[in-house]
Amino acid sequence: MKFFVDTADIHEIEELAATGLIDGVTTNPSLIAKSGKEFVPLIKDICKIVNGPVSAEVAATDFETMRKEAEVLRNIANNVTIKVPLTPAGLKLCKLLSHDDTKVNVTLCFSAAQAILAAKAGAAFVSPFVGRLDDISMNGMQLIEDIVKIYKNYPAYKTEVLVASIRSPMHITQAAKMGAQVITAPPSVIQQLFKHPLTDQGLAAFVEDWNKSGQTILKD
Ligand code: G3P
Repeated sequence: MKFFVDTADIHEIEELAATGLIDGVTTNPSLIAKSGKEFVPLIKDICKIVNGPVSAEVAATDFETMRKEAEVLRNIANNVTIKVPLTPAGLKLCKLLSHDDTKVNVTLCFSAAQAILAAKAGAAFVSPFVGRLDDISMNGMQLIEDIVKIYKNYPAYKTEVLVASIRSPMHITQAAKMGAQVITAPPSVIQQLFKHPLTDQGLAAFVEDWNKSGQTILKD
């Protein structure tokens, strides 16, 4: 399973990239606005930190303007993935870019039917938003199970399921059990994955016992 971090905060990206466990980055217009940084130079900086796919989203909603924006974004670096909304114009652009060997992440997916359209449009990734479905009392993870199952029925579909809008480590383990290829999560949720109280307790006991033994592994 690939791990993307869902943030435009360069320091958080650097910290997590240093673990060697991060395979890519996703951003969206809200995260860019929150960063307070200028979009294109920021994406350029992120692409230098992470070698894997870095999703940069078009801001326009009409096809022609989206196409021009995508051209600017894909010239930033080789690892930029163009993020487009799941609309007729977004999918038209997805098809065009995918034919041209550009990776596209189709975002704002909330149904299995929409995910089929994204696959037909040649998307490299489809981003179903599980947390936002949960927020309105729908079952976000059920959508992931459905999409994974449908894509398995059609091996010609090359689209990877990128589970987005993740709220907790449970979403990630459930996505892994279902066979989703990628998750993107906020840094705070990825940090939570490391934690278990028994790990902390166990380590504290090992350190204490080791100190009592008076031994050292590293000799001068
Ligand atoms: O990047 C898209 C997605 O992960 C947004 O998540 O928490 O705003 O629903 P959220």
